[in-house]
Amino acid sequence: MPEVSIEKLGELICVARKAARNSYSPYSSYPVGAAMLTSDGKIFTGCNVENASYGLTNCAERTAVFKAVSEGKRKFIALAIVGGSAENPATPCGACRQVLTEFCSPDMPVICSGLEGDKTLEFTVGELLPHSFLFEKYQ
Ligand code: THU
Repeated sequence: MPEVSIEKLGELICVARKAARNSYSPYSSYPVGAAMLTSDGKIFTGCNVENASYGLTNCAERTAVFKAVSEGKRKFIALAIVGGSAENPATPCGACRQVLTEFCSPDMPVICSGLEGDKTLEFTVGELLPHSFLFEKYQ
């Protein structure tokens, strides 16, 4: 896993914060933005997209991953998520943790920050979903 600089992580948070502005979240009023960095230096953004049938909601992280994969990019090196308050930043839901595990290496950094403020929480994908279920593991 290539090292991602503090500056680059800061840039990813800024991009994710901007992506949160596109959030469609009339039911929860909880906007979230995400920015995924690929190994070739591209950034794919995402926001949460809710639905009147609540379970159809797509989280910001999954939007970013699905955009990238559908554009032919599958090598990811860092993810920023922005949502929630400065003191209590959004962290990925269980479904998103499983989707991240599908495409990202367990040591890939995930950095979370609130819509305002500069407190960050940092995890690796492996910390977010230890002992994960992967296809290779049951072959
Ligand atoms: N949500 C995300 O998009 N990402 C997260 O990391 C946490 C939760 C969304 C789902 C829903 O639209 C809203 O936040 C409230 O759960």
